[in-house]
Amino acid sequence: MTNHEIKINFEEYASVDELNKIDKELCLEAVKALKNSYSPYSKFRVGVAMRLQSGKIIYASNQENVAYPSGLCAERVALFYWGANHPDDPIESMAVTAHSDEFQIQKPVTSCGACLQVLAEYEKKQDRAIKMLLYCRQGPVWVATGIESFLPFLFFEDRLNN
Ligand code: THU
Repeated sequence: MTNHEIKINFEEYASVDELNKIDKELCLEAVKALKNSYSPYSKFRVGVAMRLQSGKIIYASNQENVAYPSGLCAERVALFYWGANHPDDPIESMAVTAHSDEFQIQKPVTSCGACLQVLAEYEKKQDRAIKMLLYCRQGPVWVATGIESFLPFLFFEDRLNN
């Protein structure tokens, strides 16, 4: 038996003011995206702002449905919109923030496995790692670049072949 250990790296900033100007700006844009969250069931708003190489910013938020699994997380709303509309303009960074109508969120929201898998696909497609800025307005900001910081054992299509 061999025991393996995987380490992941991320940076923690005490507040958004410690980030560089361009990353701070993207975090504040993610807050704007909270407004269009459609989350009557969870009352948990998630906002995303995604910066493309051209400088364009894509906004997205979670969109829920009375048939719960038909809803979609903010991250995948952003990523699929990008794939459908701007596939040749690489994604540089993605800021994610959240707001609950019912309690104060104390630490950054980390994306679900399905969103990470979609992120992995597009990182590979554009051959460029994406900087994730996980922004908590009442707490720290966590920053990591590249999907493997979040999902070290992710599934890639090369596993489908010998
Ligand atoms: N949600 C996101 O949009 N992104 C995440 O990273 C975590 C969860 C949404 C899905 C659902 O609308 C609500 O938050 C509660 O799970």
